[in-house]
Amino acid sequence: QAWQKSVRESCHVKREDGLVVLVTGAAGFVGSHVSLALKKRGDGVVGLDNFNNYYDPQLKRDRQKLLDRHGIFIIEGDINDAVLLKELFDMIPFTHVMHLAAQAGVRYALQNPHSYVHSNIAGLVTLLEQCRRANPQPAFVWASSSSVYGLNTKVPFAESDRTDQPASLYAATKKAGEEFVHTYNHIYGLSITGLRFFTVYGPFGRPDMAYFSFTQNILSGKPVTIYQGPNKVDLARDFTFIDDIVKGCVAALDTSEKSTGTGGKKRGPAQLRTFNLGNTSPVTVPTLVNILEKHLKVKAQKNFVKMPRNGDVPFTHANVTLARTELGYNPTTDLNTGLKKFVKCPTLEPSA
Ligand code: NAD
Ligand code: UGA
Repeated sequence: QAWQKSVRESCHVKREDGLVVLVTGAAGFVGSHVSLALKKRGDGVVGLDNFNNYYDPQLKRDRQKLLDRHGIFIIEGDINDAVLLKELFDMIPFTHVMHLAAQAGVRYALQNPHSYVHSNIAGLVTLLEQCRRANPQPAFVWASSSSVYGLNTKVPFAESDRTDQPASLYAATKKAGEEFVHTYNHIYGLSITGLRFFTVYGPFGRPDMAYFSFTQNILSGKPVTIYQGPNKVDLARDFTFIDDIVKGCVAALDTSEKSTGTGGKKRGPAQLRTFNLGNTSPVTVPTLVNILEKHLKVKAQKNFVKMPRNGDVPFTHANVTLARTELGYNPTTDLNTGLKKFVKCPTLEPSA
């Protein structure tokens, strides 16, 4: 079949000891950047994405075209499709799975909780079932989220901090995902690395996120809505530039150890790691708007409103000591520099 030929070509490895990676969510923001970075250094990469319409699917099609120009094929399918996954893993001995497919977004979860359960729990488990049965078992690297820290108030957030107070349904599915991957590690010997990303932004990003929708509104003369906490306290995020996240993802793949199971049977203890990938310098949302105004050279109309009781957390702040030590992760792009790159090229070719 034509798609199988495309998959084989896409998985062709062009460097010695190159990885063979299945990237789920490859038509998404982070997935497209990571796929390109891997392909450019000669790894074999194939994508899997269901092209859902959580945000404009045309943007996903544009990313797909870009990846296609670099020789990366994206299979159109769902991570819940066990038959498709089996066929794919029977065909390709993946060394690694970079699992980035998910229902993202914090506020959308209130109206659509089942979409989160479908992708972030059921889909994750379907994929893990395939990975544990695969021979060889791949190493599994996946995106968790800073949202698992929930209402934790000890800053900066360290990996060992409590994660038992998710503030949103999205966070609850990521936390549940962490429990599942840890259990697959213990039972089946799957090598697991969880990456807790902190509010990622950059070129070819997600239109549902604040930096992107604010830019669109400012440019079209529409007001931006800035949420505030109780007593009009500004909300703050540890906004992290996509290139730094990509480097963290690639380092996590490169430092992953092999899984220790075969055919679903564990042969020994396998690697289990969790890392924060953040920027380490939180910035308030009004400051984000000020920086955008400066780079766009347009004044924003600002509406300050009370933060809806929707699961937003007041602030995020990453401690990345562990990632620095074990992955060599070193975030180098501050928000001012990163937003300058974003406004120049909001939906054009990723810089990765
Ligand atoms: P994204 O929405 O741009 O990418 C996710 C992709 O997965 C989309 O292209 C979507 O079509 C696909 N997808 C969703 N459900 C699927 C399914 N069931 N089967 C197949 N494909 C499916 O989001 P992103 O910002 O690139 O996020 C990537 C990962 O990082 C996600 O796991 C997200 O939860 C996590 N994350 C992102 C951020 C951020 O700020 N961008 C922060 C923390 C964690
Ligand atoms: C982002 C991603 O959307 C999640 O998928 C991800 O899991 C999360 O980061 C994470 O770090 O784990 P969030 O930080 O809420 O979530 O990102 P945005 O939606 O871009 O919001 C950023 C800030 O702007 C928040 O404080 C939010 O309250 C605020 N905001 C958002 C507004 O003030 N106005 C808006 O219209 C939208």
